[in-house]
Amino acid sequence: MTETDAPALAVQSFFDGATNTVSHVAYDETTRRAAIIDPVLDYDPASGRIATGSADALVDAVEGGNLAVEWILETHAHADHLSAAPYLRERLGGRIGIGRHITAVQDAFGQILALGSDFVPDGRQFDHLFDDGETFKLGDINASVMATPGHTPACVTYVIGDAAFVGDTLFQPDFGTARCDFPGGDPRDLYRSIHRILSLPPETRLFTCHDYMPGGREPAWESTVAEQAAKNIHVGNGASEEDFVAMRTKRDAVLSMPRLILPSIQVNIRAGDLPEPEDNGVRYLKIPLNAL
Ligand SMILES: [Fe+2]
Repeated sequence: MTETDAPALAVQSFFDGATNTVSHVAYDETTRRAAIIDPVLDYDPASGRIATGSADALVDAVEGGNLAVEWILETHAHADHLSAAPYLRERLGGRIGIGRHITAVQDAFGQILALGSDFVPDGRQFDHLFDDGETFKLGDINASVMATPGHTPACVTYVIGDAAFVGDTLFQPDFGTARCDFPGGDPRDLYRSIHRILSLPPETRLFTCHDYMPGGREPAWESTVAEQAAKNIHVGNGASEEDFVAMRTKRDAVLSMPRLILPSIQVNIRAGDLPEPEDNGVRYLKIPLNAL
């Protein structure tokens, strides 16, 4: 099969307005084999309550569509929402996968959060670590993994049939690209990663992980390689690496930390597992002061 007749992947997307996150249920219509990408666990930082409304919408889509979940895929360790991957694995099955370089993020944040010797930063918390170029099948559809670092050192893009799940590399063309100022982030890496994505066939459908609705438009998360190459406000129309790095560095210098970075990262580098309960049966998150 040539690249241009890659089979169509069915995709249902779910927008979480609380965190601007888009989760996806992707499947092969013939075999009903499915992957869930970047699922959200609802978390209210004021009350410390977690809830599964967003994840249950994915469960309903899987059960209603008579789908069999093979994979729960994270594009990276998210800094803006907690992952619902363990909850979904429990409800629906499947294996939790992330990019091999998650170990760099685990190492950096394991130290910032003083997670101690119980937390081993070698990726063992996940069911599978994907290498750059690794291939797998979703039913009858061929899939591959591209390392696309820059936003974080561990970011990957999942290319499944005629679609690619780009995480936080590219956003919709009118919003541009992701920040690169987290530990291990690098705008030069991001520019090169984006150009790997833009070297996919021009009709490839790109699905992002976030949308911030510039100008108050409706939420959107799907574009194509051709649209991004032409119109992306940060990298489209032949923008140079030097211009991109200068723009990104200047912009990132004035961004505040994501509201949920500390709760999110400590859960997500454990593959979404919550901290063990203390003697009173309550689980606690850790907030380091003046560390970020
Ligand atoms: Fe992110």
